[in-house]
Amino acid sequence: MKVAVLANLKEDAPISPDDPPGRWDDLDDKVTVDMILDSLQSIGHQAKYFPAGLESVENIEKYNPDLCFNSGEGHYGASREAQMPAILDSLRIPYTCGGVLGMSLSHNKHIAKRIFRCFGLPTANFVVLRDPTELKEIKLIYPLFVKPAYEGSSIGINENALVRNREELEKQVQWVWENVHAYILVEEYIEGREFTISILGNEVLPIVEIISPTGFYSNEQKEDLESEVYRVCPAHLPVEKTEEFQALALKAKQALELEDVCRMDMRMDSAGNPYILEVNPIPLMHPDPEQASLVYAARAAGYSYKDIIRKIVDSAIERWNLKN
Ligand SMILES: Nc1ncnc2c1ncn2[C@@H]1O[C@H](COP(=O)(O)OP(=O)(O)OP(=O)(O)O)[C@@H](O)[C@H]1O
Ligand SMILES: [Mg+2]
Repeated sequence: MKVAVLANLKEDAPISPDDPPGRWDDLDDKVTVDMILDSLQSIGHQAKYFPAGLESVENIEKYNPDLCFNSGEGHYGASREAQMPAILDSLRIPYTCGGVLGMSLSHNKHIAKRIFRCFGLPTANFVVLRDPTELKEIKLIYPLFVKPAYEGSSIGINENALVRNREELEKQVQWVWENVHAYILVEEYIEGREFTISILGNEVLPIVEIISPTGFYSNEQKEDLESEVYRVCPAHLPVEKTEEFQALALKAKQALELEDVCRMDMRMDSAGNPYILEVNPIPLMHPDPEQASLVYAARAAGYSYKDIIRKIVDSAIERWNLKN
């Protein structure tokens, strides 16, 4: 098959002096794209990279792929992960990962949380603010956690995201507003262990526990490869809890209409109750397992990087009814 690999490389990011810290951290490194291309070729596909954006429309059409391997996060707006699916839908070219709806629902965390509630899936109590002036009486129980309602890689989550009183809350809401220019999500802080659960096709991988000495996983820690954050996989959990959380991940994937691959971030309180933080429709696929929980989990399941790519592509082939 002929596969177009679509991604937004960090090295091509439209850097601006107004960018908040880590603004482009969720884009791909070149090493990731090279690894995806190599894997596709070693499976027997033809593969070529295209920047994920309007500038590639003509070239993608000319290449005439059977499938696009979509890793495009986009650059601007709350629709940024949905932009490539919209373009590919209009070109009538099949692609991996969620469509416009799935990407939009999961990118906008407050909407994803409302969907979880509709499906009876657990998520922390929250309010969403369009700007700091909307911060009136809040009925949530402190401590709270303040983050942008969209974005990934903990962009807009600094060391002050955890707030213990009104004064800290006001300050952090203002900081997110001024630095990220996004809607602001204020959630109850879930004290406890953190897990992330990846799904390849419909196969849920072993659970990864993320252990951070600061009590949450900030942008600074995600950027710092020497940080004290580390992963354990399979997470040390009783079998029933493992199965409960894996089933929850599958339900969250279905609720948000995600496809082929995704990763659910969650926390567990001291009573063992789970809370979904968010679901990532295009999880980071850096070949270094220490940087990408999906790759870390796949390794624990005995899968190589090539196996990951094969499973994503096979899932898309089946879904789109393509001939391999
Ligand atoms: N309600 C909460 N309670 C406790 N910790 C939280 C909460 N919300 C977020 N966090 C912490 O902040 C981190 C980042 O939050 P979240 O996963 O929502 O952001 P993200 O930037 O989209 O992450 P990703 O890099 O996975 O895309 C979490 O991994 C967790 O450590
Ligand atoms: Mg996350």
